[in-house]
Amino acid sequence: MSAGVTTQLELRGVTKRFGGVAAVDGVTFEVGKGEIVGIIGPNGAGKTTLLNCISGLHRLDGGDIRWQGASIAGMAPHRIAKLGIGRTFQIVRPFGSMTVRENAAVGALFGNAAGRCGPKEAFEMADQVLDLVGLKAKAGHPVSALTIPDRKRLEVARAVATRPHLLLLDEVMAGLNNVEIDEALEMVRAVHATGVTVLLIEHVMRVIIGVCRRAVVLDFGQVLAQGEPEVVLRDERVIQAYLGERYAKRLKS
Ligand SMILES: Nc1ncnc2c1ncn2[C@@H]1O[C@H](COP(=O)(O)OP(=O)(O)O)[C@@H](O)[C@H]1O
Ligand SMILES: [Mg+2]
Repeated sequence: MSAGVTTQLELRGVTKRFGGVAAVDGVTFEVGKGEIVGIIGPNGAGKTTLLNCISGLHRLDGGDIRWQGASIAGMAPHRIAKLGIGRTFQIVRPFGSMTVRENAAVGALFGNAAGRCGPKEAFEMADQVLDLVGLKAKAGHPVSALTIPDRKRLEVARAVATRPHLLLLDEVMAGLNNVEIDEALEMVRAVHATGVTVLLIEHVMRVIIGVCRRAVVLDFGQVLAQGEPEVVLRDERVIQAYLGERYAKRLKS
């Protein structure tokens, strides 16, 4: 972790098995308050599983996860959300029949780290976060009318509306074009600027280099490398396990 930063989230030997296979295998790293940390690695490396462990969707098979010094291992997802750990999902599942504003308000109603809030505050919060993610003009639209990038924005808005101290983002930029990625980058910066720590999974290296102070590379469930993105991305093992495959693919396409 960077010098002078207070540890917020601490992963110690985090392990999650499915059947006999360790999808996450002894993962240890820390996230400091106010940092933006990136998780990268090939498909199937265990990135989503790791976020699921942090947000309490999976029970750990080994290791510990500490939030502000206290273990949250084994805690139910809603309790972890109440502590201020919010997240997006890789597969976006908005409430299709509701408006954009109503969807964002649901986040504010059900996951508020600052305590319960009523419908009025929830809608105020919804308006704030929709402004933050650039969806204000579409607040009254039905979700079913949203484009893919806008659905991703709404997913972030819904998570931010829970007023998290730490936000976990799972590939919110997948499938976006370059202009949309730049907009999404601005959105992450804007959310971060409100004082939220960010741990994000992303395949777009421009994003990792653009916003992350540190990157953690996962491969076969283990930490292959971690450190400053510029350093990590030049690591021979990272190029072999991950970047080589991706760059080769990009050359073909
Ligand atoms: N609920 C599950 N049940 C069984 N296997 C799973 C489950 N979730 C993930 N896996 C397996 O764990 C490994 C890591 O998956 P995942 O965390 O989704 O990788 P990534 O997000 O890095 O692409 C994969 O081999 C995947 O098939
Ligand atoms: Mg994933």
